[in-house]
Amino acid sequence: MSSTQPKRFTITSALPYANGPIHIGHLAGVYVPADIYARYQRLKGEEVLFIGGSDEHGVPITIKARQEGKSPQEIVDKFHQIIKQSFKELGISFDIYSRTSAPIHHETASAFFKKMYDQGNFIEKNSQQLYDEETGQFLADRYVTGTCPHCNNDRAYGDQCEKCGTSLNATDLINPRSVLSGNLPVMKETRHWYLPLDQYEVWLKDWILKGHKDDWKTNVYGQCKSWLDQGLQPRAVTRDLDWGVKVPVEGADGKVLYVWFDAPIGYISATRHWASEEPGRDWEKWWKSEDSKLVHFIGKDNIVFHCIIFPAMLHAEGSYIVPDNVPANEFLNLEGDKISTSRNWAVWLHEYLTDFPGKQDVLRYVLTANAPESKDNDFTWKDFQARNNNELLAILGNFINRTLVLTDKYFKGLVPAVDELIPEDEALIEEIASFPKRISISIENYRFREALNELMNLARLGNKYLTEQEPWKKFKEEPVRVGTILNLSLQICANLTVVGEPFLPFTSEKAKEMMNLGSTNWADGGRIDLLTAGHQLNQPAFLFERIDDDAIEAQVQKLQQTKIDNQPKTVEVVPVKSDISYDDFCTMDIRTATILEAEKVPKTKKLLKLKVDTGIDVRTLVSGIAEFYEPENIIGKKVCILANLQAREIKGIVSHGMILMAEDSNHRLTFVSPADEFHNGSTVK
Ligand code: MF3
Ligand code: ZN
Repeated sequence: MSSTQPKRFTITSALPYANGPIHIGHLAGVYVPADIYARYQRLKGEEVLFIGGSDEHGVPITIKARQEGKSPQEIVDKFHQIIKQSFKELGISFDIYSRTSAPIHHETASAFFKKMYDQGNFIEKNSQQLYDEETGQFLADRYVTGTCPHCNNDRAYGDQCEKCGTSLNATDLINPRSVLSGNLPVMKETRHWYLPLDQYEVWLKDWILKGHKDDWKTNVYGQCKSWLDQGLQPRAVTRDLDWGVKVPVEGADGKVLYVWFDAPIGYISATRHWASEEPGRDWEKWWKSEDSKLVHFIGKDNIVFHCIIFPAMLHAEGSYIVPDNVPANEFLNLEGDKISTSRNWAVWLHEYLTDFPGKQDVLRYVLTANAPESKDNDFTWKDFQARNNNELLAILGNFINRTLVLTDKYFKGLVPAVDELIPEDEALIEEIASFPKRISISIENYRFREALNELMNLARLGNKYLTEQEPWKKFKEEPVRVGTILNLSLQICANLTVVGEPFLPFTSEKAKEMMNLGSTNWADGGRIDLLTAGHQLNQPAFLFERIDDDAIEAQVQKLQQTKIDNQPKTVEVVPVKSDISYDDFCTMDIRTATILEAEKVPKTKKLLKLKVDTGIDVRTLVSGIAEFYEPENIIGKKVCILANLQAREIKGIVSHGMILMAEDSNHRLTFVSPADEFHNGSTVK
């Protein structure tokens, strides 16, 4: 921990890859806790810069672009917009949301590398790398898959095994295959720049193992320790690729910085981007001043990059501060399965915002209450519903609503005065005063679930007080006493909006409006004079709505459909029939033909009546393909027909021959078609 009280907080959140939208795993792991922290520090009056942006380089983006026949820039443009917009709607209060394809980032990353290069911080090395001869490309990182040498997972990537979490080199893989062609790669020589991490081992051990044993989370500290205990190796920081920040030295044509070298520098370039937006803004103090406290919010798969590699880079470069803390979360699963962008197993933020308009705080609440802070956790829609209905609505919403409605009813919405205090009131006031500190301690130690639970305890306290004091039974006899009860209850409501703001900013604002209360800051928490006697409240309204079974069922159905879509289609091949002679085969007269007309056979599901030109004649056929082809789509289609099949009557239509179709094990049919230029009546043998 910084020995002195920091002057300002440089808060970063992992830059999401711009190859897909944001899902609840990203939010629970990184952005919601980071936002709570940033909002809290701002409310305390601290100087805060909350940094976000899109990570737009790296192999997965180029692979996606290839798959979709687009340029990498088109892919990142699309997702950058979606991501940025959805964060905004959820109230993630970035001071800047930048991107790594921006020129300012290329300049910053390039200069960072160049300075390290000039200082002699890199090792230059020729090595044999995997190369795909068919596509003429070196296969970096995710361009190769193969078997993990540590856990035998046969779908490990060239940079990491997602099963055991080990970080790999492409050449470590057993049985490597090119993602581009599926081929076995060959070895080819290439030249790269390496960061000699082994040279920073002593410094890192001292800084982390000695310096942060007590203030870093155990999951983070533990991962770092195991890395450091294993001993660090030099790591290549350049790649043979054409998408990324060009390596700014002579003789590095066709090479770019490794995405994990340039992306964290994105935090710095985002700060410069922010500074460029208004005159007088200084970017350097956020990164070069010892009284700035740098905190990285990330997921656990990013730990090594933020705790070891990036700090080593910052330290080597020489002019930057290093992180004070790296509060990484574990993973959030969804309904028992690992969240996956490629398998579409996710709750997507932009879809949530459309499906549950106005319910941003519900998601923020559920993801915080269930945050994977010390172990992986599971998100279920049932739990989402229960937490909304039984906690937000029944505890928090209900308390504020009861208090405001009673004040409206008994005092026309004018805050009543406090009269004589009874011991229960004194105890209550003392407890109210204790909450801000309790919540502060939890937040400052990155225990957001605990902090949120404390917030709910304040609402529980209010409910308990109202229930015990029963103002509704006392108003006739003791209106003055009821005034005191409601005044104190209103102070709790106001306090809830003060200390609840970092967690539930939309709700806090709405409740403040109802109470006609202006903006507050953290120091207002604990006060019991936030609403003074005679202050006019506005009309009360509900803060939360019940979420019914139908809405939840619809979401569960959507996931169910994803499961079905992901099921492997059965592929079976029927065994070969018994032998026939060539002469037997030659008895069949198979011809190429063209479909001239097609129409549904009335009252049947499967049958089409077709008119075909066989080159010999034009004839009528009945074919069982209506489930697979619309009549209008097959006019002009070249097909093969069995021309000498005995005529048969089907549904009152005489069919002269049969169209040849291929059928797969899922009983789908497709035409067996000759090339288009073949003339009708050609024989098939
Ligand atoms: N894009 C990375 C991920 O999603 C995170 C990059 S964080 C940064 O895992 F520091 F490199 F920007
Ligand atoms: Zn593995």
